[in-house]
Amino acid sequence: MSISKRWLPPSSSLPRLRSLHSVTEPQLRTALDNLQTIYCPLRLPTHLVTSKGAISSIADSGYASRDELAEDNPRDNEDGLAALRLDEFERSFAVRWLTSMISRAEELPFEEDVLSAMIDEASLILSYFSDTGCENGDDALIRDFSFPVRPFPVSAGTINVRLKDAPLSGTDHTDAGLQSWGASIHFSGLMCAQPERFGLTNLPSNASIIELGAGTGLISLTLAKLFPLLAVTSPALVATDYHSAVLENLRANIDFNSPPATADPIIPVITGALDWSAPPASLRSSAHMLFAADVVYAPEHATWLRDCATHLLDTDGLFWLVVTVRSSGKFEGLPDTPEAVFKEDNCPRDADGRVLRILEKDMLLKKRGVGREDEKGYMLFKIGWTSV
Ligand SMILES: C[S@@+](CC[C@H](N)C(=O)[O-])C[C@H]1O[C@@H](n2cnc3c(N)ncnc32)[C@H](O)[C@@H]1O
Repeated sequence: MSISKRWLPPSSSLPRLRSLHSVTEPQLRTALDNLQTIYCPLRLPTHLVTSKGAISSIADSGYASRDELAEDNPRDNEDGLAALRLDEFERSFAVRWLTSMISRAEELPFEEDVLSAMIDEASLILSYFSDTGCENGDDALIRDFSFPVRPFPVSAGTINVRLKDAPLSGTDHTDAGLQSWGASIHFSGLMCAQPERFGLTNLPSNASIIELGAGTGLISLTLAKLFPLLAVTSPALVATDYHSAVLENLRANIDFNSPPATADPIIPVITGALDWSAPPASLRSSAHMLFAADVVYAPEHATWLRDCATHLLDTDGLFWLVVTVRSSGKFEGLPDTPEAVFKEDNCPRDADGRVLRILEKDMLLKKRGVGREDEKGYMLFKIGWTSV
């Protein structure tokens, strides 16, 4: 089987963007399937029985069933595909094409649901480019994230964030924030795709924003690069965590994304030590918006976060909480804890009778290639004060 017959290089096979309005649905679907085949391999190595019955260990490419692979020479197929995948020219051609396709999606002559499925697929493929980092000497991983910004009602663009995921110590079980987790990757993409859904397009220009358990800082840095496109000109953006090594890595990541390291417009991000179980008195009712992703992984976390939000959130503010749903037994039941701590009798009340409640709940499906194997999806909670 010839690789060039089955997997076409993007530069010679993708439909021309100049004539996007005349692209048919099958043409676009074939183009996206081809890109997904090339650039979306599964990460975990797998064992596979070859036609000769020998066990060989190869990277499961995720583009064909095991039986299908076994009929050909799997290693040749994988090697050919890997060569195409690593071709820098083809990679940047594919990224440019996907980014333009998403930002000009309105020109495509498709029904709304077809269009939205195509955009999701294109975003998913783009996320694979973000998710392949390169290792440096001390096993830290440099990761480049790219999130397309939808054109309505803000100007289109792409938010690029470069992060260092530091190696975990192996001895300190509390240093999880040295790495970027699927919840913040998924949520950052969503904020860029739908900023109005999260109330980001009508914030006061001097809004005060706090991220809790910020880890490597992806959400804060995405916001810092998104705000200039939304005309939110002078927000106070504070990324907080309680772990000293995590805060140090977070500061390095902010430097990575700020002048002179980059010319991208960016709002300054301040870091601060903040423990959910004891938020500082000085920050009472100071936040117009709170963000926290993958922060509920022990039974006490939901209660701490509820009380912390009660303390920090302005009466008109919103708290966006993203809870990771994991398959492992150790984490069973934890995604239900936010709702348990916000049951009617447990809801915090302020002196004026306002009640802090979950206003909306949504399940975000896991995207292939984003997040660890045991992550099954993400619960998104919108939390705010209500007057009854
Ligand atoms: C699983 S990591 C998620 C990090 C980041 N939000 C992400 O999604 O990549 C959980 C984060 O919560 C922080 N954390 C845990 N307990 C905390 C507490 N009591 N107060 C503040 N931060 C805490 C950890 O240091 C870590 O950065």
